[in-house]
Amino acid sequence: MRFDIMTVFPDLVETVLGESIMGRAQKNGFIEVHAHNIRDYTTNKHRKTDDTPYGGGAGMLMTPQPIYDCFKAVEAQIPEENSRRVIYMSPRGRVLNHTIAEELSSYDNLILLCGHYEGVDQRILDLIVDEEISIGDYVLTGGEIPACILVDCVSRLKEGVLAAEECYENESIASGLLEYPQYTRPPVFMGLEVPEILLSGDHAKVDAWRLAEAKELTRKMRPDLYAAYMEAHPEPPPKPKRTRRKKEAVDEKEAVDEPS
Ligand SMILES: C[S@@+](CC[C@H](N)C(=O)[O-])C[C@H]1O[C@@H](n2cnc3c(N)ncnc32)[C@H](O)[C@@H]1O
Repeated sequence: MRFDIMTVFPDLVETVLGESIMGRAQKNGFIEVHAHNIRDYTTNKHRKTDDTPYGGGAGMLMTPQPIYDCFKAVEAQIPEENSRRVIYMSPRGRVLNHTIAEELSSYDNLILLCGHYEGVDQRILDLIVDEEISIGDYVLTGGEIPACILVDCVSRLKEGVLAAEECYENESIASGLLEYPQYTRPPVFMGLEVPEILLSGDHAKVDAWRLAEAKELTRKMRPDLYAAYMEAHPEPPPKPKRTRRKKEAVDEKEAVDEPS
């Protein structure tokens, strides 16, 4: 899968995505990330990429020409048969979540546009953008961090990026629940002990404990997720107490059969 990020701060995204698991995924060829400097495409003699908004108002707006030419250069590198989506990172967009990340992970190419200052000229959105995506209901100074977040959460769903599939399937949100509490060495830290069951070596009991903890944590912290999980995984009704019922039935029958 290939990501092309159009930005006026390419070093920022290259630094963030060049480290750790994302960096390794690129080195091993599981994902490709290309940052394109929009400023390289401006025809303005002062290399400007922004201007004041028509109609007045605070701040500067990114001009359409350098973004459009940058996009055309990126587009020329993508094989025509590839599935692709052009996304503008924007606080106005659909708020990113696991389902959207899964949906986006099915494309061959994602082209991400990072705004800065007051954003970009509307005509760029009309001309090249398929969708606006937000990373949450707050406003940042630029689209670079949101783009890195999108690349990270989409990439880790691609085969090979994480060590094993279960790494994300059992995690918070993807599993439908928040993750249970995890512990590592030492067994006692600052007087706090690791729950005994985790040291028992009984995998069935550990699994049952983790599921119960995950459910309880989700119920407390994310009732919306909990309700959706319980709807998808209804609990079987409690087993009837058969012995008592049988006894009652026998007593009742005897009472009826008894001659008056
Ligand atoms: C200061 S913001 C512009 C906000 C814009 N004037 C508005 O009110 O919608 C500058 C850039 O940061 C990025 N950005 C800010 N907040 C974001 C968010 N929550 N999600 C995604 N991108 C965001 C966008 O690319 C945006 O163009």
